[in-house]
Amino acid sequence: MPFFPLPFDRRSFLRSVGLLSAAGLTAPRLHALAGATEESAAQVSSNDRIRLALVGAGGQGQYDTSVALQVPGVELVAVADCYQGRLDHCRERWGASLFTTRDYREILARSDVDAVLVATPDHWHKQAAIDAMHAGKDVYCEKPMIHLYADGPQMIEAAHSTGRILQIGSQRVSSMIYAKARDLLASGAIGKLNMVTAHWDRNSSIGAWNYTIPLDASPETCDWSRFLGTAPQIPFSSEQFFQWRKWKAYGSGVAGDLFVHLFSGTHFITGAKGPTRAMATGGLRFWKDGRNVPDVMLALFDYPEGFNLSLRVNFVDGGQENEGLVFTGSEGTMIISGNAVTVSRTPRETAPGLTVGTFTEAMQRQIRKQYFTRYPLQHPAGPPPVALDRYAAPDGYSDSYDHFANFFHAVRTRTPVVEDAVFGFRAAGAALLSNVSYERDSIVHWDPVAMKIV
Ligand SMILES: NC(=O)c1ccc[n+]([C@@H]2O[C@H](COP(=O)([O-])OP(=O)(O)OC[C@H]3O[C@@H](n4cnc5c(N)ncnc54)[C@H](O)[C@@H]3O)[C@@H](O)[C@H]2O)c1
Repeated sequence: MPFFPLPFDRRSFLRSVGLLSAAGLTAPRLHALAGATEESAAQVSSNDRIRLALVGAGGQGQYDTSVALQVPGVELVAVADCYQGRLDHCRERWGASLFTTRDYREILARSDVDAVLVATPDHWHKQAAIDAMHAGKDVYCEKPMIHLYADGPQMIEAAHSTGRILQIGSQRVSSMIYAKARDLLASGAIGKLNMVTAHWDRNSSIGAWNYTIPLDASPETCDWSRFLGTAPQIPFSSEQFFQWRKWKAYGSGVAGDLFVHLFSGTHFITGAKGPTRAMATGGLRFWKDGRNVPDVMLALFDYPEGFNLSLRVNFVDGGQENEGLVFTGSEGTMIISGNAVTVSRTPRETAPGLTVGTFTEAMQRQIRKQYFTRYPLQHPAGPPPVALDRYAAPDGYSDSYDHFANFFHAVRTRTPVVEDAVFGFRAAGAALLSNVSYERDSIVHWDPVAMKIV
């Protein structure tokens, strides 16, 4: 495929711009990205089989499991969840012999479990992941890695002291689109990065976390005290159990749910460790249904690398649901949207420009004469040309598959994962600065290397 050569060859790019677009916007040149290399089923010996257990069998846990089971040599042996209906459904889905329990410690005690997938609400991530690592299991823990800032150092320490593999589940970090974007940025395709603008808007009730509550929800079918864990002890609420993201006792607001993906993507593509300053605003504008987190949030971040990040989540959006990141550089723009990354590039004008219309005719003539001698017109037919290159993943491409494949490869080879606890903490810690800023009504300072609020 005709990718930009690395390192980016500015001259040859400008030449191709000239050929492709004498004036104005060109039609994008399309490039198909090659599929990821996989370990095939034949390459995985029976000794390499990984026996997986799921802790938290809700929407993401069951989806993740279905993806993980596509990786050769992975089998599901046990599931823990606090709602009986989900345990029953897992047996319907993956076989009646599956071991199921409401208490995940029974799973951690089993010798036939090698790895644990933690897909509980956020307030359980730290405890379940640390308990699993101390029980000798490798862990894939869903994002956001932390619910409280104190969770980060504890999880990093547990991964270090136990020597277990810990992958955090922000699958964009394994995406071939994001890898291409990282290479394009490093090659100079858009010049020096100046700003990243990203959003994740939703305009539906489900998008705003109003998930369906099953008809049999009750203290008998739902293990309420196990769900609550260390959260404030309140009477049973089926709404809080099944729509937990709406309360900060269990979830982390739109920042922990969605900003975190935008942070992990931005950090992966730019190589940045995190922002130094954060400021967030927003409000609860539409979904006034008892939730205690905002449904609109805007946040700004300063990066020591010399760019700003601007993030938005809008659950009151009247348009389409969508997610996107725009990287603006000194020489062009790179947009990630859907399963593709597009680069547009405008050669930078070197002439200073002219504003002479208010001067006398004689003065205008004199200045123009001098100016065009010194700066011959570069684009007499109009504005400078824009070149577009679009790199698309194959139909049906799944970054989640690649993220799990990376995890299981690390489990087999004891090599580092693509998203370890430090990376996960830097992404989630940066995201949660938005909540701190929103609640304190002030700018918050963060040390991205030490991973601490300053
Ligand atoms: N990577 C992604 O793109 C992505 C997408 C969606 C969700 N997630 C993350 O996955 C996690 C789960 O989200 P979800 O949408 O599946 O929520 P969910 O409510 O559908 O599922 C959570 C499940 O965890 C169970 N649970 C709660 N406490 C438990 C405990 N102590 N032990 C065992 N099970 C327990 C609940 O009963 C529930 O079935 C969240 O942290 C979320 O941020 C990630």
